[in-house]
Formats: sequence, structure tokens, C-alpha cells
Amino acid sequence: MDSIISIKVKKTNAYFYFKKSNYNRMMDSIKKLKWRYAVKKFDSTKFLSDLKIEILKEAFNLTATSYGLQPIKLVIVNDKEIQDNLVKCSFGQQQIIQASHILIFCIENQINEKYIRDYFNLIKKIRNTSDEILQPFQEALITTFSKKDANEIRIWAINQAYLAMGNLLTVCAMEEIDACPMEGFLADGYDDILNLKDKNLTSVLVMPVGYRAEDDIFSNFDKVRKSINDSIIQL
Ligand SMILES: Cc1cc2nc3c(=O)[nH]c(=O)nc-3n(C[C@H](O)[C@H](O)[C@H](O)COP(=O)(O)O)c2cc1C
Repeated sequence: MDSIISIKVKKTNAYFYFKKSNYNRMMDSIKKLKWRYAVKKFDSTKFLSDLKIEILKEAFNLTATSYGLQPIKLVIVNDKEIQDNLVKCSFGQQQIIQASHILIFCIENQINEKYIRDYFNLIKKIRNTSDEILQPFQEALITTFSKKDANEIRIWAINQAYLAMGNLLTVCAMEEIDACPMEGFLADGYDDILNLKDKNLTSVLVMPVGYRAEDDIFSNFDKVRKSINDSIIQL
């Protein structure tokens, strides 16, 4: 039978009770999140399996996005020649050449009426929802987006890319895949090297993934975080 564990919160002296199996599961998630860190040196002899890459693809596609519009695309690179070129547009950050794969989070450049109509056609195809129900939502969304200027739409799309990266960082931790989230790169350079303009895409975030090098000194550093009381207000 599942035993019960009690935890006393020092500050309030309150007790919380958990089933042991639930408590272990919860601690497992926290342990994995503590295990992850922004890797500064990857082991360039280790590569992610096809299965791990498939998991990352599925996880990316399952990311929640505003209205469900998915204005983002993931470009995956595992080609040392391309990675070598990308280092030059990444302020020399060596993770880009060392890592097994490079994930490039991109936004769609054309979020227009056609894009929104295509999305509603997809809903109709997958859920068989009637036009009668979909039509008002579709028209409302087209009106909402017609009132936004290009920059507003761009920022909205970038926000979705950050969500996707956050999602994948957590999935990487759960799957014991090492990663480094990165803003430190020149988007124009990446867009040129990867021909992203031709695909109507702009790169916004980069994440090398693979396995940490045994001698990455950052793997032993304590996490620097505010105290829970400083970062959370529980009313
Ligand atoms: C949006 C974002 C951009 C980042 N850009 C870089 C980067 O360009 N290069 C790098 O080495 N680390 C980068 N980091 C890693 C952060 O410095 C790191 O996540 C933070 O210091 C917390 O440490 P931890 O992830 O190891 O717990 C970035 C992190 C985030 C979330």
C-alpha cells in the first residue's frame, strides 16, 4: 500500500501530506529540473538518437500557442559544416559546433488572412466542426489580426517561440537531454546560412542539444536562483 509522507513548511509550521508515490513523482520532476543547466561545453562525440529527436519534434508541435495558431517553425541542423558556419554568427559560442543537433526556433513572416483561414480549415478537417460554429471565430480572429501592425504581430509570434523553447527545455530535462537556450546569435546571419527568407521564416532563438562534456565546469556549479519567497507571492 502507498504510505503517506508529511512535510512541514518551516515558515508557517503547516503540514502537507502526500502519498509516497505522488511525492516521489513530484521530487523526480524537481530533481530533473535541477539536473539541467545551460550547457557551456558539449561532448562532441555523443549524438542524440533518432528517437530522442522525434520526441523533441513532437514536443515542439505540442507547445500551446496563442489562439492555437502556431506561428512558429523549428529548424533542426546536424551538419558539422553548417554548424561551423553558424558559430561565426553566434559570437563564437562553441556549443554550436560541439552539440549533436542545433534547434533553431523561427517565426512565420506571413501571418495574414490566408494563414488564419488555413488554420480554421485544419480545425474543420481534424474535428469535423461545422462552418456555423467556426465562422464567427474565424472572422473575429481575422478582424483582430487586421488591426495589428506588422511589428505587433512579429512580437506576438516571438512570444510563442519563447514558449516553445521553454517547453523543449523542460522536455529535454525530463528526457535527460542536455541543452543551452541561446539569444546570443545574429538572426540575419542564421537566416542567410539556412535560407530562411525563402521559407518565409525568421530565426529568433537557438538551442544546441546533445550531451554535456564531462569537463564542463558549469555542470558542478550551484544553481543561482532567488529564494522561493522572493520569486513567488502566494496570496
Ligand atoms: C532566453 C535565453 C537566452 C540565453 N542566451 C544564452 C546564450 O546566448 N549563451 C549562453 O551560454 N547561455 C544563454 N542562456 C543561458 C542563461 O544564462 C542560463 O539559463 C541562466 O543563467 C540560468 O542558468 P541555468 O539555465 O544553468 O539554470 C540563455 C537563457 C535564456 C533563457
